Amino acid sequence: MSTFQTVRGMRDLLPEEAEVINYVITKARQTATLYGFREVITPIVEPYELLSAKSGEEIRQRMFTFKDLGDRTVALRPEFTASIARLATTAMKNEPKPLRVFSVGSVYRYDEPQKGRYREFWQSNFELMGSAKPEADAEVVLLTNSVMKNVGLQDYAIKLGHVGVLKGIMTQHSVEDKMQNAVLQRMDKKEYEAALALISSDECRNVLQGLIELKYDSVFDAVKKMKTHLQGYEKALNAVENLSAILKLVTESGCEIETVDPAFARGLEYYTGMIFEVHVPEMNIALGGGGRYDKLIEVFGGEPTPAVGVAHGLDRIALAMQSQKTALKTEEKKKVVVVPIREEQKGEALKIAQMLRDAGVSAKFEVMGRKMAKAMEDADKRKEADYAVIVGERELKEGKVVVKDLSKRTQTEVKIEELAQKIKS
Ligand code: HAM
Repeated sequence: MSTFQTVRGMRDLLPEEAEVINYVITKARQTATLYGFREVITPIVEPYELLSAKSGEEIRQRMFTFKDLGDRTVALRPEFTASIARLATTAMKNEPKPLRVFSVGSVYRYDEPQKGRYREFWQSNFELMGSAKPEADAEVVLLTNSVMKNVGLQDYAIKLGHVGVLKGIMTQHSVEDKMQNAVLQRMDKKEYEAALALISSDECRNVLQGLIELKYDSVFDAVKKMKTHLQGYEKALNAVENLSAILKLVTESGCEIETVDPAFARGLEYYTGMIFEVHVPEMNIALGGGGRYDKLIEVFGGEPTPAVGVAHGLDRIALAMQSQKTALKTEEKKKVVVVPIREEQKGEALKIAQMLRDAGVSAKFEVMGRKMAKAMEDADKRKEADYAVIVGERELKEGKVVVKDLSKRTQTEVKIEELAQKIKS
């Protein structure tokens, strides 16, 4: 029989890759704690109805949907937001607001596999529910900035926009919601011509075209020019005011916003307000994205609850770290291999390995039954250990073992009760 491969778009993360993803997870989790977000764990399999309700055509078509054995139509989660909104209307309904919820895990989309685009990928997700204030939007942008900084990325840029701008213009020209979503989907992909072709009103098309082509010097200038361009569009102007307030808070706090995109749209349908993404120069795909969604919890049968959130693509963050040569800052812990010289010392050697592990030293036991010389050769070759602890009859009688420094190639006898301490120091 031939060997098995992973399903297309699904990957094995080998130890080095898993280490980086776990490092990013640790940093995201620490950031969540620093910002007062509590972690929840939700199912990977959810009702199709829940996941498809407000996510939008793009995601709906890419969901892994199937019938379970109980004939329920279910799907693998393509994101976390729907699950968290469900929680906000059920088990966490009575939690005091604002509610800050963090999650991390794998999500699934039937995307076309390529570098940075997979069918199973990892997200860290933050939702802040219960506040309509710009400071809530600012908080989500700031924590995203913190995650990027905390993993060690040097060169990244945050792009800000507001879905209320495009929606406000189209609503004023009586473009139906469904058509608005179709336009926004295309704008998200920068297919501006195709987006504008869907609009029948010349006036509406011209205003949108003007936004797409708007030239500006700085982010504040962008907001100013948007206001001038949108005279007479009350809803769109309110959106620009809101965007301006958020921009002011974020920049005043010391976080730089690289771009304000007047014609910014994102693929998900539930957004109602500020939207943002993080990019790095070496990739043309986003490292993270989010925004405000004030109607979703209501759609799921909850009390009207304004909310804002973000998801970070951990696989893409890992790729960016690799290309920006970001070193993992992990605590270096000493590692040892424990080798009994003979059969008779196995029990005692295992006991010593156990004692080292209890003291926090990583200890690999020689499980292949090899002779000392062979075991040493292997430890040398693999370069996975700092010391070899050799357990022999003569030393044991004196309550000692031999410790061999594998890089310096020196060896000393060490009392067993002092062993862990000696290795750690
Ligand atoms: P999203 O923009 O669809 O937003 O996804 C967030 C991030 O997930 C992207 O910026 C990207 O880094 C990563 N990502 C998306 N697709 C793939 C893929 N095929 N392979 C690898 N990484 C990918 C959301 O998911 C929203 N739920 C964010 C949010 C939370 N909005 C409000 N609250």
